[in-house]
Amino acid sequence: MIVITSPTGNIGGQLVQDLLDAGAPVRVIARDPARLAPGVLDRVEVVRGSHRDADVVDEAFDRASAVFWLVPADRQAASVSDAYSGFAQAGIAAMKSVGRVVGISALGRGTAVAGRAGHVTATLAMDDLITATGVPYRALTMPSFMDNTIRQAGAIATQGAFFGPSRPDMPVPMVATRDIAAVAARLLLDESWTGSEEVPVLGPEDITFDQMAEIISDVLGRPVRYQQVPGEAFKATMSKNGNSEPMAQAYLDMALAKNDGLDSAVVRTRENSTPTTFRQWCIEVLTPAVQGY
Ligand SMILES: NC(=O)c1ccc[n+]([C@@H]2O[C@H](COP(=O)([O-])OP(=O)(O)OC[C@H]3O[C@@H](n4cnc5c(N)ncnc54)[C@H](OP(=O)(O)O)[C@@H]3O)[C@@H](O)[C@H]2O)c1
Repeated sequence: MIVITSPTGNIGGQLVQDLLDAGAPVRVIARDPARLAPGVLDRVEVVRGSHRDADVVDEAFDRASAVFWLVPADRQAASVSDAYSGFAQAGIAAMKSVGRVVGISALGRGTAVAGRAGHVTATLAMDDLITATGVPYRALTMPSFMDNTIRQAGAIATQGAFFGPSRPDMPVPMVATRDIAAVAARLLLDESWTGSEEVPVLGPEDITFDQMAEIISDVLGRPVRYQQVPGEAFKATMSKNGNSEPMAQAYLDMALAKNDGLDSAVVRTRENSTPTTFRQWCIEVLTPAVQGY
């Protein structure tokens, strides 16, 4: 039995579909099973609740051969450490009884900025706690997701621009969540691996935000530009979007660390590159979202 946390999310939703397509037995943890994609509910076991809670993970992880572990964003957390290691405390305790764990993590370990990278620093600390349990673990370490751009579909549609704290001219890896789900599915179905390792998932190429704007313009057939915003303005936007002060600061710290090379330390190989290009993602995912405005 393969247990999936966050089955209604970007990665989790696509992962559940990949595993069902492969004929795997799936159990999901869902706060509201009605939010599962159409056709999923009839084909999976459901444990209702949040994977933050001990009784929920104790029930869900029982006799699991593998677990997919993803910590959701917590805008109201008192600290970024509480948002990750705090959220994961019960889940990590329950992992002792499972065969293998595949988790969602981030690039940056070993870089000079890893200790001041907000969400990423907290994610890597959570990974260390999982590894310390001795459960076989694969931490999928990712750069920023292409899918983050969807949050700016309205600005792209109405202002012909998208905004962020990232440098416009720095080539960085960028990955589609569909590819992350595919890598997770492969590892969850593979019973041969042991030990604890990071698995970088880098997307197909390094790309700048200005190049992303060019591709979006080309695909939509109208000009779209990328506008870098100052760090404090970005933090103010994150606060306006409902983040507590420590979480807004953590977003800013992560963005500044990315500008200082957080995502650039892993050497690209055929094995850690994944197929979906930013252009393909724009055609298939961004365009319908922008057309919805
Ligand atoms: N975005 C990036 O660029 C990036 C890069 C590297 C790593 N990451 C990591 O990727 C993860 C986000 O992945 P994603 O985009 O697939 O997530 P997502 O689409 O935001 O999905 C979040 C999921 O968590 C569930 N959820 C929300 N609050 C919950 C709670 N309190 N208890 C239990 N479940 C809850 C949601 O389900 P319901 O609301 O239906 O319950 C949903 O299934 C984070 O861990 C982040 O640190 C992100």
